[in-house]
Amino acid sequence: MSENSRTALITGASRGLGLALAKRLAEDGWNLLIDGRNPEALDAATAELSELTTVAAITGDVSDKAHRDALAEAVRNSGGLDLLVNNASILGPSPRPELIEYPLDALEEVYRVNVFAPLALVQAVKGSLNPEAAIVNITSDAAVQNYEGWGGYGSSKAALEQISNILAAEMPHLRIYALDPGDMRTRMHEEAFPGEDISDRPLPEASVPEIMRVIESDLPSGRYEVRNLPGDSRGIRELRVAVTADDFEAARVFYEEGLGLPVVDEWAREDGSGVIFSAPTTTVEILDRRQSEFVDEVEAKGRASSGHVRLAVEARDVVEAAAALRKAGAKMVGQSAVETPWGDENMRLETPDGLQITLFRPVEEKEAVR
Ligand SMILES: NC(=O)c1ccc[n+]([C@@H]2O[C@H](COP(=O)([O-])OP(=O)(O)OC[C@H]3O[C@@H](n4cnc5c(N)ncnc54)[C@H](OP(=O)(O)O)[C@@H]3O)[C@@H](O)[C@H]2O)c1
Repeated sequence: MSENSRTALITGASRGLGLALAKRLAEDGWNLLIDGRNPEALDAATAELSELTTVAAITGDVSDKAHRDALAEAVRNSGGLDLLVNNASILGPSPRPELIEYPLDALEEVYRVNVFAPLALVQAVKGSLNPEAAIVNITSDAAVQNYEGWGGYGSSKAALEQISNILAAEMPHLRIYALDPGDMRTRMHEEAFPGEDISDRPLPEASVPEIMRVIESDLPSGRYEVRNLPGDSRGIRELRVAVTADDFEAARVFYEEGLGLPVVDEWAREDGSGVIFSAPTTTVEILDRRQSEFVDEVEAKGRASSGHVRLAVEARDVVEAAAALRKAGAKMVGQSAVETPWGDENMRLETPDGLQITLFRPVEEKEAVR
């Protein structure tokens, strides 16, 4: 595991929400320890994540003590844990039986995975939790709503929530969250609604930015819905930049393949088409006209104007990222990468939808690599 990075253990990270969250943590420089039962799926996820960070993967079932012991040992060897995400979970039988008919052996299995395993994992890693560590137990609205047919899974998540509450009271120095990620288009959701069209549910990537907000926050321990997090009094939950593209397909290729952004939602209707991508950390930078023109001069020798909106994307390698963007339809505007007066490495391009885009690598990144 690389030094100076934080370490997260995410259970069930071979697909769905676990994998989406693991990708984001990897992009943010966390070291990862992940698991899942299916070795092929776990290998594929590990290969993808290893391009971004240090990943240790252990195949196994969280309800198996030997597997949890192996995870705890890997945590000890990594030098401590900053984040435990108890995400692995099963729905139970599908179609979902009503409680009055629920096979009790199947209910035991649901409880073994969804309730006992998360608590057992907290117990197994407690000696390795770093002082600022957070524990995130992934729950569901089924824990608090009395939906018919959700008694097995829902009651297991209710138990997990109460376990989270009580752990938080008993270990007040830690942040312990029960997080409801909202409906997501995943294998579990397909199993929950067999044969139904679930294409209107958002992909798990849509829940990730808010989960990250909780992980990086100083929010007190408790239950939170990621789609309804406490914000400031205006309740702003997302800033979405809507770009009108004359060549919709070209723009889509640029953002999906060039920038590698995951699709969160898309539609093609009689009244038009749209696609929404999720992005890693998004910030808004406001410049006065003089500063904006100065940046144009630095990056493009004044041959281009930022216009009213310019995108700026942080890249690990500006030249490699520019090559990928050009392949996806972007045009070069500046001649090459430039060292800015503030020490960053920047390059200016134009997207197929006509926006100016700056690729940048902050100076401290370069120094860390040296
Ligand atoms: N999807 C939704 O609409 C929704 C809504 C609310 C809450 N949630 C919660 O969100 C979390 C993620 O669900 P998801 O929708 O992403 O589900 P998913 O697509 O079924 O993914 C579940 C992940 O957990 C792994 N897993 C399952 N059982 C395991 C076990 N016993 N031991 C180790 N790994 C195991 C799976 O891999 P293997 O099968 O290979 O083990 C997979 O990587 C769950 O806690 C779920 O309850 C989901």
